[in-house]
Order: sequence, then structure tokens, then C-alpha cells
Amino acid sequence: MNAVPETRREPHGGDHVLVAEQLARHYDVKRGMFGQGVVKALNGVSFALTRGRTLAVVGESGCGKSTLARQLTMIEAPTSGRLLIDGEDVADADRAKIAALRRRVQMVFQNPFASLNPRKTVEQTLGEPLAINTKLTSAERAERIAHMMRTVGLRPEHAKRYPHMFSGGQRQRVAIARAMILDPQILVADEPVSALDVSIQAQILNLFMDLQEEFKTSYVFISHNLSVVEHIADDVMVMYFGGIAELGDKKTIFSHPRHPYTRALMSATPSIFEADRTIKIRLQGELPSPLNPPSGCTFHQRCPYVIDRCRSEEPKLREVDGRQVSCHRAEEVGDTGA
Ligand SMILES: Nc1ncnc2c1ncn2[C@@H]1O[C@H](COP(=O)(O)OP(=O)(O)O)[C@@H](O)[C@H]1O
Ligand code: SF4
Ligand SMILES: [Mg+2]
Repeated sequence: MNAVPETRREPHGGDHVLVAEQLARHYDVKRGMFGQGVVKALNGVSFALTRGRTLAVVGESGCGKSTLARQLTMIEAPTSGRLLIDGEDVADADRAKIAALRRRVQMVFQNPFASLNPRKTVEQTLGEPLAINTKLTSAERAERIAHMMRTVGLRPEHAKRYPHMFSGGQRQRVAIARAMILDPQILVADEPVSALDVSIQAQILNLFMDLQEEFKTSYVFISHNLSVVEHIADDVMVMYFGGIAELGDKKTIFSHPRHPYTRALMSATPSIFEADRTIKIRLQGELPSPLNPPSGCTFHQRCPYVIDRCRSEEPKLREVDGRQVSCHRAEEVGDTGA
């Protein structure tokens, strides 16, 4: 495929194509008769995305995954914290620079019906970013579109079709083609298979993996499903209530989780973790109300390991046994018989 040098640059950020430092996004919300409240949807997360790898972000609904996605793709500006894309601080960038950075970070959404314009053919949907961002002639654009359609498993002769003429899986392939057509450095995918039939999910996951191999794209892959994460991740970030519970490479986290919440999530996915009986933790209760956050550790009301300290002192994310974990008792939680 022809190169798209406008978007693919020499690496500046070293091994890390994206770095988040204490990234936070708070929302002001009306709080009934009592006036204003603040939802700390994302409450200071720090992590790095390694070039060419897949960081899977996992956690229950409402923990802040989509809010994180909107910050990383610069759809929203964070309340505080820093975001570096390929070594460049987004906060220092002017409009033109932000536009250039946005081209390098593309997004795939959960619902391809909602994210594709129903009045545009595939050819129009894929042609637009090329017309705006490249100097390709219309013949070259058509060739690029056909190539990209084949790459994502669509037939080029269907280029004049509208989204409603495709199945859900094919529509998601169109959305993936649109995200990949400018050869972005980073792809943020927010639950991209959750809305699809289970029989289609594996095909689309495999497509993501094939594309990564071909284009060397770095992925932030959001999912609430640990089986999906198992399949696709290199690194795993477990989120809870706007923060990071545990972060590390997949093998370390899955083979020896040290945060009680990670263990609870794993216990709820018996297909993968049935073998390990020491892992069993039942997740009790609901996520706390975002308008009334718990003191100390945000997990303390649901945690079987809770001690007095957890109710008053917030655990910091720290290195334990080859991963990052925010739990006062991480050393014990991982021990046999704990
Ligand atoms: N625009 C918004 N205004 C107010 N609250 C929001 C907004 N977007 C998200 N939230 C709240 O932030 C929290 C995290 O939401 P979200 O990022 O969508 O979580 P997830 O994607 O993990 O389900 C939730 O409590 C949600 O209600
Ligand atoms: S800090 Fe305490 S409450 Fe929080 S996860 Fe660890 S043991 Fe549980
Ligand atoms: Mg979401």
C-alpha cells in the first residue's frame, strides 16, 4: 500500500507512543435540589502505551473507560493531567497541531450503526479522510479504498453500498477501515465487539490483530469482557471507579493478580480461570455512587480483604512483584492461601 507520510512520522516518544500522567476528567452535574455535584469520571490515571502493543482496558460499566477514550482521542480536553502523543504534549499544541495529532489517534466505537453516517456510501466514508488529508488523485483514492476494503475483509465491489446494506460485523469492518485508512499510530477501540453477535466477535478480534501486525498500530482496546482481553491484550489495565486498580503485562496480571478487584473480575469469568481455585472472590454490591465517593480505597465497601486503614487512606498505585497495583494489601493478596 502507498505510504501516508503525513500521519506516520519518525518516533519521538521512544518506546512509548502515548503517555498519560495523572490524567483526570471531572464533570459538573446537577444534583437535584442540592445544587451542583462533581463526577470524577476519570480521577488521575498514569500509564504508557508501548509502541506496537495492545493495552486492554477492562472494568465494570461506569468505571470511566469511555471517558478515558475521549481524552486519549482528544475528543474532550482533560480537567487536569498531561497527555503526550509520540512525545508531544497535547496541552502545548495549537489548533493545527491538535488536528495533526487527531489524525494520528483514531477511534472505533461500540456501535457501528451509530458511528457511520447512514447517508454515506463506504466509498464516501473512506474517501473523505483521504480527500482532506492527502494529495492523492481520485483514481489513487479509489485504489486505496479498494485495497483497504479488501484488507478488512470487505468486497471492493460493495463500495457504493450504504451502511444499512451490511450486517453488523461488516459495518464494524467499515468503521475499522475508516479508522485505519490514514495509517494512524494509535487506535482506540471502545468495546468494538460488544454489540456484535458472539459468532462474529472472534472474527473481528482477529481482524484487529491482523491489522496490527500489518500496520504496526498501537492499540488501546477497551472491553468489559475478560475473555476478549485474554485474546487480544499484551498489557492489561484494570480500572475501578475512575482509577487504576492494577496495570501490567497480561501474563503477570492473569497468572497472579494482586488486586482483590482483579481477582473478583477473574472469578466472574470461570471459562478462563476455573482451574485456579485460590482466585475465587465474589464481587458484592454495586459500584458506589459517583456523586458520593467512598473515603480511602474506592473498593473498600466491596472488598473481602478490607482493613481499617483502607477506609481512611487511599492506596497509591505502586510497583509490586512486576506490576503496578493500588492496594494496601497487594503483597498478601497474591500469596497462596490469602
Ligand atoms: N458527560 C458526562 N456528564 C456527567 N457524567 C458523566 C459524563 N460522561 C460520563 N459520566 C459519568 O462518568 C462515569 C464513567 O462513565 P464512562 O466513562 O462512560 O464509563 P464506562 O465507559 O466504563 O462505562 C459514570 O459515572 C458516568 O455516569
Ligand atoms: S486497599 Fe484495602 S479495600 Fe482496597 S483493595 Fe486493598 S485490601 Fe481491599
Ligand atoms: Mg463505555
